[in-house]
Amino acid sequence: MKRLYIKTFGCQMNENDTEKVFILLGDSYVKTDNPEEADLVLINTCSVREKPEHKLYSEIGRYRLLKSKRPDLLLGVMGCVAQQEGERLLQRFPYLDLILGTQGFYRIKEALQTIENKGSPVIFNQLRDDFTIPLTLPNKEPPRRVKAFITIMQGCDNFCTYCVVPYVRGRENSRSPEDIIEEAEHLVKKCGVREITLLGQNVNSYGKKHKGYVDFADLLNLLSQIEELWRIRFTTSHPKDLSEKLVRTIAENPKVCKHIHLPLQAGSNRTLKRMNRKYTKEEYLEKVNLLRAHCPEIAITTDLIVGFPGESEEDFNETLEMMEKVRFQEVFSFKYSHRPFTVASKLGEEIPEDIKEERLTKVHKLQESITESILKAYLGKEVEVLVEGRSEKDLGKLTGRITTNIVVNFTAPRLDLIGSLVKVKIEEAGKHSLKGKYVETLKC
Ligand code: SAH
Ligand code: SF4
Ligand code: F3S
Repeated sequence: MKRLYIKTFGCQMNENDTEKVFILLGDSYVKTDNPEEADLVLINTCSVREKPEHKLYSEIGRYRLLKSKRPDLLLGVMGCVAQQEGERLLQRFPYLDLILGTQGFYRIKEALQTIENKGSPVIFNQLRDDFTIPLTLPNKEPPRRVKAFITIMQGCDNFCTYCVVPYVRGRENSRSPEDIIEEAEHLVKKCGVREITLLGQNVNSYGKKHKGYVDFADLLNLLSQIEELWRIRFTTSHPKDLSEKLVRTIAENPKVCKHIHLPLQAGSNRTLKRMNRKYTKEEYLEKVNLLRAHCPEIAITTDLIVGFPGESEEDFNETLEMMEKVRFQEVFSFKYSHRPFTVASKLGEEIPEDIKEERLTKVHKLQESITESILKAYLGKEVEVLVEGRSEKDLGKLTGRITTNIVVNFTAPRLDLIGSLVKVKIEEAGKHSLKGKYVETLKC
């Protein structure tokens, strides 16, 4: 049997696409973690900022060496850079065999067949506006696992002015609730999955374009009826589409985890407008208040961009003020990076690199103290943890997450608790995670 190695960059959606490639190839390829022994190497790429895009170019060079030793090795690029660059990748790296875009990778079998028949490279990177994600279920008994992703929608129609995603993932289209439920039931019943994370660029607008589909809140309610499914997470929520109905569902449905990733991006209304985010900081704060009024324990995390073109010192200070006001549990912050096709890349008024760096450091510093105090509040408390595996740093410990998405590493008398829901007493708070000791098993 042939072996397939995939190196994955980028977001959870890319991770999910990588899993799907293994499913799509079924019995014809087995997974290997060692590219040296692979017959097919794929690089699943991200283009959201310049840095990950550049990683691809160094990575291709690495595998070229392998290919020069073993000419029968097939080398391909998939994901967002493959979508963005298409033919240009082949011009730059003529030894590539496969270029599969964000919709094209579903045709991987056909692509491999074409290479075998014709011996020439294959590029599948057309984007269809009406494309919806096909149902891809594992066809053989997969290994048991605790968590899984389900991509419930594809593409994005929001066109934030800095963002390449609408250009590389195409138009927003939701999958049917029937397909999503079938996939969830399969994962839960056949693969032992206990926690599902629903993925979409803006899950809050799930179903809006399709007559007869339920909305996102009702999708959560439908999925929560799957008995052996214990937890449901989702990402990402666009603040402009966060409805009161969804907030109530998060608060009231015990299976929906008490965590929301709600990207703010910037704290000044001027920048938000120029980013085309379609909300003001006041509206964002209203959503935060609504969330906390209905669900006081909810954890709110966010994404922030510093150094958007024309961002003044005053604008940036408003981002820091918003961080103080909201007190996010965790912040993922990025220096603005020019992306092809985007409106912001044509704005001019570029912010110098050293100022971006300075602003990023300020964000990190402020957030460090906020995260620290949120984590410290857990000291001495007992929390429910879904056990995901052995702790990476200490194999004698177990690791899992609280409903609020905080990682907990803990000691336990037995290590065979993976997949169980356990009670843990928190004894130590780190920078981004907690430590504790096992108290009792709640569900297994
Ligand atoms: N759909 C999601 C996010 C997708 S991209 C959402 O709307 O939140 C993930 C994050 O990357 C974004 O939230 C943003 O903070 C960051 N990002 C996107 N484009 C960027 C760019 N050009 N430069 C820097 N950061 C960027
Ligand atoms: Fe990009 Fe905005 Fe769409 Fe998110 S909502 S993927 S940031 S365009
Ligand atoms: Fe990157 Fe594409 Fe995801 S650009 S963040 S891999 S949608």
